[in-house]
Amino acid sequence: MRVLVTGGSEGIGLAIATLAAGAGAQVEIWGRDEARLATAQRLSGAGSGQSVDVTNMDRVRAAAVRLAAGGPVDRVFHCAGHAKAAFIDEASDDDAPGMFATNAVGSVNVVRALAPAMMAARRGAIVLTASDLGYVGLFGWSIYAATKHAVVGLGTSLRHELAPHGVSVQVLCPPATQTPGYDRENLTKPASVRRAEEAGGVMSADDVARVAWTRCGRGGALIIPNLSSRVLYALSRVSTGLVHRLVRAPGPGEPR
Ligand SMILES: NC(=O)c1ccc[n+]([C@@H]2O[C@H](COP(=O)([O-])OP(=O)(O)OC[C@H]3O[C@@H](n4cnc5c(N)ncnc54)[C@H](OP(=O)(O)O)[C@@H]3O)[C@@H](O)[C@H]2O)c1
Repeated sequence: MRVLVTGGSEGIGLAIATLAAGAGAQVEIWGRDEARLATAQRLSGAGSGQSVDVTNMDRVRAAAVRLAAGGPVDRVFHCAGHAKAAFIDEASDDDAPGMFATNAVGSVNVVRALAPAMMAARRGAIVLTASDLGYVGLFGWSIYAATKHAVVGLGTSLRHELAPHGVSVQVLCPPATQTPGYDRENLTKPASVRRAEEAGGVMSADDVARVAWTRCGRGGALIIPNLSSRVLYALSRVSTGLVHRLVRAPGPGEPR
């Protein structure tokens, strides 16, 4: 089995790559930083790695062509992503363009580059990565949540579109997960946001990876790896207002 993991040099992607290689798959990882890629290849047992910025369609397409030279890809886990929490009146000018480019446009680029060959082979499974913020909103996360709602919209639409071609599409929606990216986002995260999101617990990257690997190509459109998030998802289908009443955003003069 041939597996591609974007964002495979750290965090959830690295955990999935390690699991896939351990299961005997031929794994390729993508990320931008060459040194991180080399270390991750060693750690995970991935057979190959390419330095690719998923926001750059030309680079993504070229990497997909090199990958396809080795034969059809069976599973794609698109984990590359970027998160920064900020109240909207404190967000920087770069936050929206940066997160939309990586999370939303990056997902479109990866699918556009890889799906045609999978459709031609009439087999394969694609797992995009959103977040539990892909189906609910939370104060402090408005821009990031908008990018991850975009990923859920992309994935659920593609699921319809690619099923007749034998290709399955799912969206992984992890809760807060202990990764290097999570540690980095916590450096600037408002304390109230951190408290609210950690109420449901923090998963390990290995646990998220195990669920993603097992559910890939099987089951529903969304892969929600933990029970509290599945409850949150069910509540969000009943009423967005209900979810917002459970978690109160800080008001004027209150500490953020
Ligand atoms: N950790 C959480 O709490 C959490 C919760 C919900 C959803 N998620 C989502 O899960 C995914 C993985 O998160 P993580 O916490 O494991 O992240 P992470 O530890 O920051 O790792 C991110 C990976 O993506 C790569 N990457 C970042 N930007 C890229 C780009 N433009 N092009 C190519 N590769 C890029 C990074 O390598 P380079 O920097 O070298 O490119 C790295 O390999 C993300 O989509 C994130 O939004 C995470």
